[in-house]
Amino acid sequence: KTKLLENGSWSGVRVLVSAGPTYEPIDPVRFLGNRSSGKMGYALAAASAARGAHVTLISGPTSLPPPPGVDVRRIETAEDLANSMSKMFPEHDICFMAAAVSDYRPDRPHPSKKKKDGTSWTLSLLENPDILASLSRQKSPGQFLVGFAAESEMNPEKLLEKLRKKGADMLLANDISRPDIGFSSDENEMTLFSPDGTSLPLGKHSKTVLSNKILDEIEKVWRRPAA
Ligand code: CTP
Ligand code: CA
Repeated sequence: KTKLLENGSWSGVRVLVSAGPTYEPIDPVRFLGNRSSGKMGYALAAASAARGAHVTLISGPTSLPPPPGVDVRRIETAEDLANSMSKMFPEHDICFMAAAVSDYRPDRPHPSKKKKDGTSWTLSLLENPDILASLSRQKSPGQFLVGFAAESEMNPEKLLEKLRKKGADMLLANDISRPDIGFSSDENEMTLFSPDGTSLPLGKHSKTVLSNKILDEIEKVWRRPAA
């Protein structure tokens, strides 16, 4: 095995990033979504491109400008994201699954805009497939898979269990109960969990600085197999 990330240069490294929320249609005008701004995934894409990587960003609906030098493709639903990621993953070395995938989707979206009729409306939701877990089953030697977790309660044992259950090579967790960080904030505070059970607090920083700290940590552990 050779180390290909000398001097922080990611030239020739292919990075796949998912970012932002997914929108799950209720009818043609309404959807189920979440508060993800996409900023963390966009910052990771920008930082990887700045190091010379070839970057593909699969983005849910966000209001962010495309990062310079990044190939951006847009999706809306978790199903679209799952299809896009599984198609793109084989052509990439490192994958950041930073999207906030909706855990549920309406089982049968109303085919036309639902009109009020003076009664209540009950939605029935189905669980979406776990994209990160299925990418880990699709993984080839040398590929590196990074997961994220936004938790209201930071429990190291549960986070390690999440990392292992999903087969990720690294999990970055942040505490969403803190009003000053996360979601639409430009700052975040993250802890990095590894499959060997170790955790590393990365501190509270801008999402750009945090992205570079994450890339630095990947440089320490990731070795691309010799071609
Ligand atoms: N994820 C995914 N597909 C899903 C749900 C989540 O790929 N259907 C990914 C996220 O992009 C993230 C990681 O899995 O990288 C952890 O997401 P999280 O929501 O914390 O995990 P869940 O398995 O959905 O568990 P929870 O019930 O805590 O939401
Ligand atoms: Ca979830």
